[in-house]
Amino acid sequence: MSNAPRLTALMLGLGLAIGATLAPAQDADPARAYVDALLAKMTLEEKIGQLNLVSVGPDYPKEAIMADIRAGKVGAMFNTVTRPDIRQMQDQVVHSRLKIPLFYAYDVIHGMRTIFPINLGLASTWNLDAIATSGRISAIEAAADGLDLTFSPTVDVTREPRWGRASETFGEDTWLTSRIGATLVHAYQGNDLRAPDSLMASIKHFGGYGAVEAGRDYSNVDMSPQRLMQDYLPPYRAAAEAGAGAVMVALNSINGVPATANRWLLQDLLRKDWNYQGLLISDHGAINELVLHGVAKDTRDAAEQALKAGVELNMHDDVYGKQLPALLAAGKVTQAEIDQAVRDMLLTKYRLGLFDDPYRRLQGQDPVDTNAESRLHRAEARQVARESLVLLKNEKAVLPLRKGATLAVVGPLADSPRDVMGNWSAAGVAAQAVSIRRGLENAVAGQGKVLYAKGANLLDDRDVLAYLNSYEPAVAVDPRSAGEMIAEAVAAARQAEVVVAVVGESQGMAHEASSRARISVPDTQRELIKALKATGKPLVLVLMNGRPLALEWEQEQANALLEAWFPGTEGGNAVADVLFGDQNPSGKLTMTFPREVGQVPLYYNHLSSGRPFDAAKPNKYTSRYFDIVNGPLYPFGYGLSYTTFDVSAPQLSSATLKQGDTLTARVTVKNTGDRAGATVVQLYLHDVTASLARPVKELKGFQKVMLQPGESRELDFPITEADLRFYNNDLKLVSEPGEFKVMVGLDSERVREGSFTLL
Ligand code: BGC
Repeated sequence: MSNAPRLTALMLGLGLAIGATLAPAQDADPARAYVDALLAKMTLEEKIGQLNLVSVGPDYPKEAIMADIRAGKVGAMFNTVTRPDIRQMQDQVVHSRLKIPLFYAYDVIHGMRTIFPINLGLASTWNLDAIATSGRISAIEAAADGLDLTFSPTVDVTREPRWGRASETFGEDTWLTSRIGATLVHAYQGNDLRAPDSLMASIKHFGGYGAVEAGRDYSNVDMSPQRLMQDYLPPYRAAAEAGAGAVMVALNSINGVPATANRWLLQDLLRKDWNYQGLLISDHGAINELVLHGVAKDTRDAAEQALKAGVELNMHDDVYGKQLPALLAAGKVTQAEIDQAVRDMLLTKYRLGLFDDPYRRLQGQDPVDTNAESRLHRAEARQVARESLVLLKNEKAVLPLRKGATLAVVGPLADSPRDVMGNWSAAGVAAQAVSIRRGLENAVAGQGKVLYAKGANLLDDRDVLAYLNSYEPAVAVDPRSAGEMIAEAVAAARQAEVVVAVVGESQGMAHEASSRARISVPDTQRELIKALKATGKPLVLVLMNGRPLALEWEQEQANALLEAWFPGTEGGNAVADVLFGDQNPSGKLTMTFPREVGQVPLYYNHLSSGRPFDAAKPNKYTSRYFDIVNGPLYPFGYGLSYTTFDVSAPQLSSATLKQGDTLTARVTVKNTGDRAGATVVQLYLHDVTASLARPVKELKGFQKVMLQPGESRELDFPITEADLRFYNNDLKLVSEPGEFKVMVGLDSERVREGSFTLL
């Protein structure tokens, strides 16, 4: 890390930015030589055309796009996703003067045709191999449909359950998100981006989008440079260093400067400090939005600022096409600045192997049926989904259930294949997704019985329903009265041995533009839960949601709670596997679940305070709320199993650590119950005294282990000086000598400690 971030981050704090000189191409490398030779042949109009990323829409029909491709006015497309459609578009290129192939992008966020759990669920597996499987299969399926690039992974760190896009993130932890981001980049891109089954990754949303104020989508980010550098930016860096071919720039501003016009962020930090060489893509319409942000006086000014900041590929609004010629003529932007953006765009196509073969991902025969069952990867989706489920409560071992039992399966989300897939479900087909009801029916076939009743509508606020149904008929409303629906569910419950109620949010409630001020289960569903509870039958709640919900009341009502997120195509089967004990649950939360929305933001790695709250000695003048139980309902890292585990206190290989050395924390983890099961042993560190207040703990290691009943295993966690670094007051990444605590546990709260000194 050079000193530049300090200076520039301080300038950012003041809302200033500095210019950057763009380095000339280094022609030693064949890619650059090829691209520069091509660039030399291009007219200004053709160059600017390369910066245009378009999609078919009502104002821009397919035929108009095809004409623009022939005229050399389009660089790439998004949201065109089948082989015949992509081929038709690519065929137009032949009629253009320079025949520069297009690339094709799509939001392949957690699966293409086979849908895996939403990202918050994927993270809950704490299994990087499982996450890599989801990424590799996404790439195989997307590339098989002709796609070249995905707008993924989303490595925004978030502490905001109100934010609907928390569902798209991997949670609140910087270190974990960094590892997952890098894993997915490798999984999508494979070893060779030119391979016909490789998909280029475009990490997003750079940067800090997960910290939008109050979790309100598209609001802004205003925070200390330390927090930004320490907590929010490292995952983008990790994913960029893993080789991501592209970066999507965020919609938000950071300390007053929109990311899309932020020279510090895009030039000084990303390009210079991180030495990032890939493509920079604007988010949808973001260049134009600089006017609404109030930093550009008009669209022309916006285009100038975005280009100078380094935004290269212009998504959706073709501001560059409309404004760059005049800006160049007026001397507001330089030819070198335009050329640099075009060069990166052409290099991207070169890396994807498209100059050699524009049909690289369209080889072989098109499938007779795009949605053919044989194109899915169900077994992998089911396995990953099983691991993403988090058991939150299991009173008196009500779970696992007996397959011979009669079950009442109720709730507005119990029979909704569309919701099982979750948001951003790419080309996933709802009819191919297994609802929870169907999964349970599959599991008990020939043995037990499933009685189904919807029991309640998702919610009954007409305005909210209209909002959720504004783009597609996403939420079906049962016309019966609430009383009638509840009565039907109660009748089913009375005939059953156990009630499984599937409640929570529809996928559209946890989405882009779906911020919630109330993070609870809607009232219609609570009425249903109340009536079910009154039957006295054991009550299992399966939760579907894309954010932490405030579940204190539900926890009191239910005998068992299983967090299912939106578990994907095989979701229903995976939930059945866990409910019947064919899979022992092993998922752990990667976002803190608060008791009340008023506690938000609530996250495990908060800074030390001068008056910390101590639940054992709850004093008045400490950092707390006086009107509720303090602390989360479920902490980061939490999740139960059908067996029990015990972890020993960490034994350190040395009481001191020297620069360049590695210390080992050794723990023994034991399965103390009577079933085989997996758990996640987590290692946290705490810097006891430093020049700045430091987090009370920070995740720095984890291992997921499978143990037979009674089996124990020794686990070693290496700790190096690099794990102890943080951004100091001068924004230098340093470690400071002194005492460090080492904490090990099965969640972030119940930990056992050791300590060492950094010399
Ligand atoms: C979202 C991005 C997405 C893009 C293209 C935007 O609205 O913020 O995450 O990649 O649309 O669909």
